[in-house]
Amino acid sequence: MKSPIAVVVLAAGAGTRMKSALPKVLHPLAGWPLVRHVLQTATRLKPVKIVGVIAPGAKAVAQAFAPHPTVVQKQPLGTAHAARAALAALKGHRGPVLVVFGDCPLITTATVQRLVDACRQQAAAIGVLGFYARDPSPYGRLIVRRGMLERIVESRDADESEKAVDFCNSGVMCIDGTLLPHLLAAIKNDNVKREFYLTEAVAIARAKGHGVIALEGPESEFLGINSRAELAAAEKVVQQRLRAAALEAGVSMVDPDTVWLAADTKLAADVSIGPNVRFGTGVSVGAGSEIKAFCDIEGVRIGRGAQIGPFARIRPGSDVADGVHIGNFVELKATRMGRGAKANHLAYVGDSDIGEASNIGAGTIAVNYDGYGKWRTVVGPQAFIGSNSSLIAPVRIGRGANVTAGSVITEDVPAGAVAFGRARQVTKKRRADPLRAKLKARAATAKRERRK
Ligand code: UD1
Ligand code: CA
Repeated sequence: MKSPIAVVVLAAGAGTRMKSALPKVLHPLAGWPLVRHVLQTATRLKPVKIVGVIAPGAKAVAQAFAPHPTVVQKQPLGTAHAARAALAALKGHRGPVLVVFGDCPLITTATVQRLVDACRQQAAAIGVLGFYARDPSPYGRLIVRRGMLERIVESRDADESEKAVDFCNSGVMCIDGTLLPHLLAAIKNDNVKREFYLTEAVAIARAKGHGVIALEGPESEFLGINSRAELAAAEKVVQQRLRAAALEAGVSMVDPDTVWLAADTKLAADVSIGPNVRFGTGVSVGAGSEIKAFCDIEGVRIGRGAQIGPFARIRPGSDVADGVHIGNFVELKATRMGRGAKANHLAYVGDSDIGEASNIGAGTIAVNYDGYGKWRTVVGPQAFIGSNSSLIAPVRIGRGANVTAGSVITEDVPAGAVAFGRARQVTKKRRADPLRAKLKARAATAKRERRK
């Protein structure tokens, strides 16, 4: 029987090179905090437990790990010291322990699974994922002899011949859970940085006669995020993956490089996306819907056969039913659009509930904010809101009601009613020419006055 695995995610390092008040592992990548990508990869391995190691006082980081438990490493004395902090939480665990870094978000489950499987097959005490680096200088080097990983040398501690090795340590290690406490206890800090290096576990295990293996993975998965530039580089990689997956799933994009997806964006088959569209988190789009150019969409479920944009903005808390049309320069916020409802041009529809097949005319504003509170606008089904109307919330427009164009609606409109919320028009016959003469004379007088 396969013994279950546990995962330890190290995230207690200082992250100083980000130059940020935000902890490094909380910086967003495709809309998710870095560490959430690592947790997603780990979760897909179906481990019995995932434990995060975090710095003292890093409350927000602990929240990002939830529901997984975290332990605190009191001082950042190295990766082995961090792993030691997790031991109490792993008590009684006898299967493999996978150690990953919270700032390495691009690792795929498939690659890690390969490592776990190889360790099981070869009964290795430790397995390490390595890669051939274009520039090996920042990484620990894997020293392999006759198929066995003998030790890992950190760059700073390497001699010339070791520096020439370009097989590098990714940081991902799979360690036999029954040996882990003994290996960690034996690690000393006699190196340049006076840190307890987890990588030392390899030489210690070898000295005790245990088998240790190194497995090669793709360099692109092992990009660690230490700076803003590396974060931007990782964003490129993640976006490419998300776009490729969407195309593969039957989504059309005329220019995929300009479509920005979130890690959780759900697009059904036959969704079509124009150029320059950004998806924030929490979006799902149903089959056959079209998102035209230059839309910014976040926190909304969009049904089937909807037409969105160009130039539409949808903000969180919205729900757009099948067949809805949202046109250019229309903003929705926390708004439900019923089946077949339309808001085709220039409107702000916030905190609203728009009934089936209702039409929101150009220039309509749901006046939801009075400087203190936010209020809802409710429009029943089959209603018609004429262009340039202000619906002063809280307000309700009944089923099939008609609000005439240019109305300022302050009172509820019952079902089937017509509401005029505007001054009556005054028309004066044959008065246009006299008016022109009067205005012309006034302008001439003003000009003479200025010359004086
Ligand atoms: C580490 C590896 C190196 C490897 C490289 C890959 C060691 C000693 N070195 O080096 O061989 O090539 O990653 O990117 O393991 N952390 C803690 N507590 C600490 C120190 C670190 O939780 O006291 C965490 C960090 O938050 C980070 C991870 O461990 O997530 C790696 O630490 P970092 O200092 O970035 O290690 P590197 O020097 O990059
Ligand atoms: Ca690092």
